[in-house]
Amino acid sequence: MRPTRPLIAPSILAADFARLGDEVRAIAAAGADWVHIDVMDGVFVPTITIGPQVVKALRPHTGIPFDVHLMIAPCDPHLEAFAAAGANYISVHPESGPHLDRSCRRIRELGAKAGVVFNPSTPVETVEWMLDDVDLLLVMSVNPGFGGQSFMVSQLKKVERLRSMIDQRGLDILLEVDGGVTAETARLCLAAGADALVAGTAVFKGGQPAYAGNIAALRGSESLG
Ligand code: DX5
Ligand code: ZN
Repeated sequence: MRPTRPLIAPSILAADFARLGDEVRAIAAAGADWVHIDVMDGVFVPTITIGPQVVKALRPHTGIPFDVHLMIAPCDPHLEAFAAAGANYISVHPESGPHLDRSCRRIRELGAKAGVVFNPSTPVETVEWMLDDVDLLLVMSVNPGFGGQSFMVSQLKKVERLRSMIDQRGLDILLEVDGGVTAETARLCLAAGADALVAGTAVFKGGQPAYAGNIAALRGSESLG
């Protein structure tokens, strides 16, 4: 079932890393639906960010779902640690292999929801034969690895295609977009059929007093700030 309003998942990659717990509480209080956690290993993508210990340390700070985006290869040896740390959604890139369907099934076995992430070059057909094993499809609108990049309009067609695939088959799968999402590009993503939007820069700009207004602007609702 589609959510009645867009889900907003702030990426803590753009938060103040010296006080992440406080930042997570602040975005939850400002109306965030999920916390998006970008896990990067310096191998699959150029940057190194955070691991399961940090996810575990953040877990007591809020009850809203943790949307963990793994940019690590191989991903399988670490799925259990992220599930145990309190991840609600765990999303993996097909290219982080070796077996996407096996990784998704394992994520579900561990009690989390399974997501598949599409790089800008990843075709929609990648998931065609395994949609029953997926809870979330995450379309990257930038190449993964860094926050603050520009939105790739080319990816909107992919969002539309996946929206039709989900609807035509009547599947209970959420469709999320990640990268360069601003109040302006959010509108394009929602028109293309996205259910959930990840945003780092656009949520955390202006510091904590601005978070509620920033989140409302992404949803397309009046500023609460
Ligand atoms: C990129 C990450 C994104 C990114 C979003 O690899 O997956 O979640 O941090 O940041 P913004 O919203 O600044 O593009
Ligand atoms: Zn991400």
